[in-house]
Amino acid sequence: MPDSLTPPAPGLRVLLDRASVPPKTMREPAPSPADLETAVSAALRAPDHGGLRPWRFVFVEGAARHALGDLFVASALRRAPDTPPEHLEIERAKPLRAPLVVVAGASIRYDRPGVPPWEQEASAAAGAMNFLNAIDAMGYAAFWASSETLRDPVAKVALGFRETDTMLGWIYVGTAPADRPHPQRPGPEGFYRHWQPGPGA
Ligand SMILES: Cc1cc2nc3c(=O)[nH]c(=O)nc-3n(C[C@H](O)[C@H](O)[C@H](O)COP(=O)(O)O)c2cc1C
Repeated sequence: MPDSLTPPAPGLRVLLDRASVPPKTMREPAPSPADLETAVSAALRAPDHGGLRPWRFVFVEGAARHALGDLFVASALRRAPDTPPEHLEIERAKPLRAPLVVVAGASIRYDRPGVPPWEQEASAAAGAMNFLNAIDAMGYAAFWASSETLRDPVAKVALGFRETDTMLGWIYVGTAPADRPHPQRPGPEGFYRHWQPGPGA
């Protein structure tokens, strides 16, 4: 290991210390427009096979979060018209937990057989992770959440995606409470191995 990695270089410290912050503990403010642009710039550093630039981020803040809650409810009702009212209210309130909800998505090209959709989704997910790391590095809070609404074609179109695009997550963003989480992390052992060719290779 190069000397510069022991102790970790500042950039690595950010990666090693990142932790999600539960949306219900988030507070104002959301990152400034300039900080959000920085986070998107970090997303654009993700590997990108074929230069397809699949990364897409939709910012939902302020009153628009109420409309997103309505969209969650409508989507739940399309899936299950008999959803109990109390579950609908949980859906409706979800976007209000954080100052900003970022819809992270992938704009998928189907005319590039050499770059299958999963690679484009992987690039967009790597971008979303860079976005999360950047938000964390700037001292804000972020949480990547999902729900069945991500796969709802009507919701995709309402949020400005195409039905054939992929919505990857709802990234809740805000300011962390003073006691932001510092979860215990497993060591790297057990998550990697060195391969050697066996007799059949
Ligand atoms: C694609 C994706 C979807 C996720 N969806 C949810 C979710 O809907 N609800 C949830 O509690 N955690 C979800 N998580 C996990 C949280 O974002 C977070 O990683 C987890 O709470 C552990 O915290 P940590 O990131 O600090 O390890 C999701 C993570 C990913 C990558």
